[in-house]
Amino acid sequence: MMQRDVIIACDFASAEETFRFLDLFVGEARKPFLKIGMELFYAEGPEIVREIKRRGHRIFLDLKLHDIPNTVRKAMAVLSRLDVDMCNVHAAGTVEMMRAAREGLTRADGTRPLLIAVTQLTSTSEERMRRELLVDASMNETIVHYARNAREAGLDGVVCSPLEAGMVHEACGAGFLTVTPGVRFADGDVADQVRVTTPARAREIGSDYIVVGRPVTQAADPVAAYRRCVEEFCG
Ligand code: C5P
Repeated sequence: MMQRDVIIACDFASAEETFRFLDLFVGEARKPFLKIGMELFYAEGPEIVREIKRRGHRIFLDLKLHDIPNTVRKAMAVLSRLDVDMCNVHAAGTVEMMRAAREGLTRADGTRPLLIAVTQLTSTSEERMRRELLVDASMNETIVHYARNAREAGLDGVVCSPLEAGMVHEACGAGFLTVTPGVRFADGDVADQVRVTTPARAREIGSDYIVVGRPVTQAADPVAAYRRCVEEFCG
């Protein structure tokens, strides 16, 4: 059984800003698991991943690959050499593409980072999915179907809303990981997120990892906010 954990989304524009933030955590007993997204990776390149790794953090590299299987396989082999702990693809790329991603990620010794799939982005409404993507199934049916595809391709789990974690576990098994952004403290600011819940509630529904950005990065005391997430979510 996987250990529940809190992943901080490092949505910063530069290495300088990122390290200013990470320096706050230097004395912490628990080294935060960090998510690096497109903005920071495209700005600073692979060196930012190596530097953060050298500081001893686990890294979820959130680049959401979606291309033909051969390209994804080769790109994943490159990311695997960066020694990240988790990376992801779009489930919409098909089972074949997800299999290729897994193959590319697997190192010569058989080890590999965790690999998860994005089902439907939380920014996509059911109405747009229908009208623009011509998907007639409901959002929940689509999410469960994509999660099943990801499991069939041998992936470890999916990114979804914490509110969907229970349904994904029901369909794909308790060991299939749910990595869930959209987390807010009960007394906190929701900002642009819509389907949100608290760390404590995410734990009850069964999220395996919560991804928390602004409630920690923009807090007056980020270390205290991180500790509060850990207390509520990991217990
Ligand atoms: O600041 P906040 O807690 O809203 O940050 C959530 C993080 O999770 C951001 O990096 C955002 O891009 C990411 N994310 C999300 N919803 C998804 C997938 C990723 O909020 N469906």
